[in-house]
Amino acid sequence: MLSKNFLWGGAVAANQYEGAWNEAGKGISVTDVMTNGSVSEPRKITEGIIDGEYYPNHQAIDFYHHYQDDIKLFAELGFKCFRLSIAWARIFPNGDENEPNEEGLAYYDAVFDECLKYGIEPVVTLSHFEMPFALASKYGGWRNRKMIDFFVRYATTCFERYKDKVEYWMTFNEINNLIDIDNPFNGWTGAGVLYKENEDTEETMFQISHYQFVASAQAVLEAKRINKDFQIGCMLHFGPIYPYSCKPEDVMASVKAMDRRFFFSDVHVRGKYPSYIKKLWERKEFNLDMTEEDLQVIKHGAVDYIGFSYYKSTTAQFDSTQDFVEIPNPNVPKSDWGWAIDPIGLRYILNVVYERYELPMFIVENGFGAYDQFNNGEINDDYRINYLQDHIIEMKKAIELDGVEVMGYTPWAAIDIVSASTGELAKRYGFIYVDFDDNGLGSGKRYKKMSFYWYKDVIDSNAECLAY
Ligand code: BG6
Repeated sequence: MLSKNFLWGGAVAANQYEGAWNEAGKGISVTDVMTNGSVSEPRKITEGIIDGEYYPNHQAIDFYHHYQDDIKLFAELGFKCFRLSIAWARIFPNGDENEPNEEGLAYYDAVFDECLKYGIEPVVTLSHFEMPFALASKYGGWRNRKMIDFFVRYATTCFERYKDKVEYWMTFNEINNLIDIDNPFNGWTGAGVLYKENEDTEETMFQISHYQFVASAQAVLEAKRINKDFQIGCMLHFGPIYPYSCKPEDVMASVKAMDRRFFFSDVHVRGKYPSYIKKLWERKEFNLDMTEEDLQVIKHGAVDYIGFSYYKSTTAQFDSTQDFVEIPNPNVPKSDWGWAIDPIGLRYILNVVYERYELPMFIVENGFGAYDQFNNGEINDDYRINYLQDHIIEMKKAIELDGVEVMGYTPWAAIDIVSASTGELAKRYGFIYVDFDDNGLGSGKRYKKMSFYWYKDVIDSNAECLAY
């Protein structure tokens, strides 16, 4: 049986659903300069807003002007919590101001009040794939140590303002995506950084991560000063990387591949750098800006819980020129975007991570991006129901059979939103269909999908309706 207090809900990110990109004093954020793409065409990152380009996050699904109706639908679903993020550029439009933008703060007051009216607990990410564009263009983003102070000021402003409305926080969304330096999306959305051709990108990435670890830990310390009951989590992307085969070389390759995911949680949770990373820095002769004071902050600012996303798994194969190469798993089916569908991977990662840290875990993203067919107001998304059902069953096994402590489950996404990687709206995730297409055309009207009614039953029965 799941606990009575299990946090059922849904998740979204400000830049992917709010819209109103330049209203009420909001500054431009790094996602506001990303065009739309597709499964085969990457999004472009432009130098500012260029006439004639289409930027899907500008309108998104316009939750900003629909928040009351949308939250009412979440209440109808039975949400106990709602995971959202704050758009940093609504609070500090350029990121380096001394005083926050009151209109931005007031907007989130209204959103949180609306949630609390229905007994829905807000779960808030401070930086979900965005930051003020000016911090990227003027300071070089997280390459710059000054970012620590800007972030801590922003975090502290939010903690002070919402100390009586929000208990659960997370600092950086999927911080460990930074490790994948070959995809420019990660450096840009995660840190406001575009790597230069002639730099050692890996060394820069470790520097960026270090500054973010210090900022996150300092934020934890500030949070506890403001309200000792705050629960502050990290947020990691935890798709398992299995060995491609049972050859010992592949098994070792999988360990090395998973180190790249765990490096980030090791620092957030244990408050210190793991030995495998220190060895790597030594071998590569990296020279990072890191002070004794930074290390003390990291040591004392460890997180309370582990928030993570789970969508898919992959595999690692030994390669003589590097630690491993990633190979898709031939044993599992894939979505239309090539994402492996592997429910057992969720139970697997819950076990592995819980055994490693013994901290409560919060599944803050899990979901199925798919093309939905709209038939006169009806959307039969049984493929999404199947995906979520299979994953929830594996989560139940992890809790009920393996003893893993899971705080809650907030599928991605509560409602259709703009896809982060492709900028499409057609890659739909929600329980609620939004009538906008990839060019932002449509009425914006909301419709309940078949999964809406299914998920409502799951929450109502605390998942007792799903047996294994
Ligand atoms: C996670 C992100 O990586 O995956 C979300 O935290 C994102 O912001 C989600 O939307 C799904 O990815 P995508 O690219 O399909 O939107």
